[in-house]
Amino acid sequence: MDSKQVVLITGSSTGFGRLMAETLAHHGHTVFATMRDPAGRNATNATELRELAKKESLPLHVLELDVTDDASVEQAVRTAMEQAGRIDVVINNAGYGVSGLMEATTTEQAQQVMDTNFFGCVRVNRAVLPYMRRQRSGLLLHISSGAGRLVIPGFGFYCATKFAMEALGEAYRYELAGQGIESSIVEPGAYQTAVFGNFVIAADKARTDTYGAANQIAGKVGAALTSTAGNAQEVADAVLRIVETPAGERQLRNRVSALSLGVDEINALCASTQARMLEAFGLSETTTFVRRSAAANY
Ligand SMILES: NC(=O)c1ccc[n+]([C@@H]2O[C@H](COP(=O)([O-])OP(=O)(O)OC[C@H]3O[C@@H](n4cnc5c(N)ncnc54)[C@H](OP(=O)(O)O)[C@@H]3O)[C@@H](O)[C@H]2O)c1
Repeated sequence: MDSKQVVLITGSSTGFGRLMAETLAHHGHTVFATMRDPAGRNATNATELRELAKKESLPLHVLELDVTDDASVEQAVRTAMEQAGRIDVVINNAGYGVSGLMEATTTEQAQQVMDTNFFGCVRVNRAVLPYMRRQRSGLLLHISSGAGRLVIPGFGFYCATKFAMEALGEAYRYELAGQGIESSIVEPGAYQTAVFGNFVIAADKARTDTYGAANQIAGKVGAALTSTAGNAQEVADAVLRIVETPAGERQLRNRVSALSLGVDEINALCASTQARMLEAFGLSETTTFVRRSAAANY
């Protein structure tokens, strides 16, 4: 396979998605930087990316993709396939958080954040996998969080979406190994992006009248996260390294943070525990990555 990859990224208007798009394109990878509403709410962001691509002759294209909309996801994947002929890497990056106590979060707010952060990945992976299976290669990358391994009070539903994403990304890894397709997870710590300003606040405050000091938890955690937030380019650089790692050699989990907070230890313990479970169920061989040669008729 050509070492230059065709990469589709969700949520490329700002933050990690934007930096990943620019970084990967600067390294010669063909990037489909997708975002919702590039003609409206993200018109400035879309124009900036297109102008950068033009000015620096970068293989960087903007496409519309709302991860909560099946038709939008399928259309973006189809367009990228038509333009580039293949998709080597999908980066499931679009996401946002809900801040506030669990009981103050309405069912609708919980469903909406799950629809973006978890079902968004489900939609995107399902749209791209038939192409990757025909190619007999590909990488599904999931931008999770340390909050996908540790439960942070005041951000419980955000954690729940990222825990769900972790299970999705790991299960796909085992099931796709024989297809020559990898699934990996990135677990950033706190980084300076628009994410903190975009947190949705739990709406049903009347529910927490009796919670007393617990009402301060989300504020305390938010302050701790923003005061320790690092330079988001570190995450884009880590993703570049993963994309450029040869197929079959990429790790399942990639923690990116100045602070481990125990996430590395959890990952190491889970890796050995999962391996024991797969062996006990007679699945070790079936879940080991197999390099496939490209389909002759593709
Ligand atoms: N920054 C951190 O400290 C941190 C740490 C760990 C994990 N993460 C994760 O990293 C990912 C990127 O976040 P970020 O920090 O870069 O924050 P960000 O700047 O707020 O970026 C979030 C992106 O997701 C997009 N998005 C939201 N809903 C969408 C939808 N329905 N369809 C398509 N795109 C949608 C946003 O687009 P709009 O502009 O249209 O809203 C935006 O481009 C998220 O999954 C987040 O959970 C962030």
